Amino acid sequence: MSKKQWFCCLACFSAVTIFSLSARAAEDDGAPKYSTKVVMKTAFKGPLIKKVAAGDASDEEKKKLYDMLVALGKNKPPKGEADSWKKLTTALVKAGKAVVDGDAEGGAMLKKAANCKACHSKHKP
Ligand code: HEC
Repeated sequence: MSKKQWFCCLACFSAVTIFSLSARAAEDDGAPKYSTKVVMKTAFKGPLIKKVAAGDASDEEKKKLYDMLVALGKNKPPKGEADSWKKLTTALVKAGKAVVDGDAEGGAMLKKAANCKACHSKHKP
């Protein structure tokens, strides 16, 4: 790799790091806004997540779902291991973010991550 290429790599990598750090800081302020039960009732059982996954939601609804998924990840699961909870909710947050960012794969990611049974079998009391 030439010096110039190497520098480009480094610059790009730093930009990504800074971006993800600031995104994380934005997610980390304050207490969780929605309890797991509320997220389940409004987003998962309710139409919100389906609507967003199908690509029929407004920007506002997408943002609301994303906020809820971030809150879900911050909640403590009533049952099961913290590691597993983190893995499952991180996938949801990533998918929610992809949708908000207009990623074409967002809906499919969301459908895959919102696997009711996979999470309930481990974390629903
Ligand atoms: C990332 C994990 C996770 C996923 C994915 C998930 N759930 Fe849940 N769900 C939970 C947990 C944890 C509870 C128990 C909450 C409690 O009792 O505090 C729950 C509870 C519920 C409840 C009961 C809420 C209440 O009032 O007690 C419903 C209904 C529900 N989920 C529906 C769904 C549906 C439908 C899906 C799929 C589309 C889904 N959930 C996906 C974790 C998940």
